[in-house]
Amino acid sequence: MLSYLLAVAFIPAVVFGHHHILPCPGGLPTPTAVRVQGCDSFPCYINSGDLVSYEVDFVQPHTTDALTLALNATVFGVEREVTLPPGASNACNSLIGASCPVSEGQSVTQGTTIPVFTEYHGGIPAQLRFQISHTMHGHEHICVCTLVNFIIN
Ligand SMILES: *[C@@H]1O[C@H](CO)[C@@H](O)[C@H](O)[C@H]1NC(C)=O
Repeated sequence: MLSYLLAVAFIPAVVFGHHHILPCPGGLPTPTAVRVQGCDSFPCYINSGDLVSYEVDFVQPHTTDALTLALNATVFGVEREVTLPPGASNACNSLIGASCPVSEGQSVTQGTTIPVFTEYHGGIPAQLRFQISHTMHGHEHICVCTLVNFIIN
């Protein structure tokens, strides 16, 4: 069962070829590019204690003055929230070459460095769900979402 789940999780990486952009389920907006430093092709290999730097390019779907970053990691079929460093959940603080407010249709790059802490090691597949959202009229709207496959060394 476990190997079946892992096989399913990794099929999209093959289908999407060199773009490596895996959409989140539910037709959510996908990035135009994802770059992870030190990782030329996915899955990326990481060790606990690493600092992982990434950049994500996307087209902002709505005008807003607030952007919230959230990361979840799925290991062995269990999805958990990734605790971000203080201030990192405010994605307005980590826009590259832009600042909030951002406008509908604006091409935006967000990127930061996240310390990796995990109790796993030894080649464990993990899938990261990367999401930036904003709240409009009391509802959360997803601006960009993607899945990234990692191997925990
Ligand atoms: C992240 O995982 C938590 C715990 O399983 C879940 O409650 C939450 O909805 C997830 N968030 C996203 C953005 O998928």
